[in-house]
Amino acid sequence: MTDDPYALATEAATALKSAVGVDSFDVALVMGSGWVPAADAIGETIAEIPVTDLPGFLPPAVAGHAGRIRAVRTESGTLALIFLGRTHLYEGRGVDPVVHGVRTAIKAGVGTVVLTNAAGGLRPETQKVGEAVLISDHINLSGASPITGPTFVDLTDVYTPRLRDLAREVDPSLAEGVYVAFRGPTYETPAEVRMCRILGGDMVGMSTALEAIAAREGGAEVLGISLVTNPGAGLVGEPLNHAEVLEVGRATAARMGVLLSKVVGKL
Ligand code: 6GU
Repeated sequence: MTDDPYALATEAATALKSAVGVDSFDVALVMGSGWVPAADAIGETIAEIPVTDLPGFLPPAVAGHAGRIRAVRTESGTLALIFLGRTHLYEGRGVDPVVHGVRTAIKAGVGTVVLTNAAGGLRPETQKVGEAVLISDHINLSGASPITGPTFVDLTDVYTPRLRDLAREVDPSLAEGVYVAFRGPTYETPAEVRMCRILGGDMVGMSTALEAIAAREGGAEVLGISLVTNPGAGLVGEPLNHAEVLEVGRATAARMGVLLSKVVGKL
């Protein structure tokens, strides 16, 4: 096994294509916490393998993060790769494992990456728990980047405007917001939540930004969708917990599944 993360992704893509028996994939979806139950609506499963069958993937660390890759044929005939769970920066194994799925998908032919996550809402005035919000941009406060060396990637349109338009054709009521990415695994303090609001953030979470950057570096287009599972700390008064995040996911799975399958059908 190579220690070059890009070559490792090429190896994983080759292993993945041969495990599924296809030459390439069209689209990848990364299902964040709360989103895994929505995956069943996206299409017909043609194969499903544990991530650990492929080079470079780490076993899942958090309950509710399944650590499997599903290959799906959608109703419109496209081949989708669904990552049921992801690796987070807070697991402490560095950035490369966090973006390995996105890199692998791109090496396997994917040109569109749909990144989903569970997020804290920073605007309880207008956001409802259980609401999906399109990510219009991000503020990366994770302290990390998937890119090393003098590769200057333009991030003007990380979250492709055309894909956001397409998602709004499916559901005109979808709001847009700026996603603030922290390393975690602690939730933010109330002071950090107030800071994020002042900075122009609308959602806060522990994923997505690094994968979006890696996808753009790889030349793929990105659609990002947050499921607001709770208000940020201090905004409403109740303490936060992971079980609540998963519960909101279960409660909204049918709705999120319909949204995703319709969006993927339009790609
Ligand atoms: Cl409030 N913060 C972060 N960082 N991630 C979350 C969250 C909050 N709620 C769900 N995921």
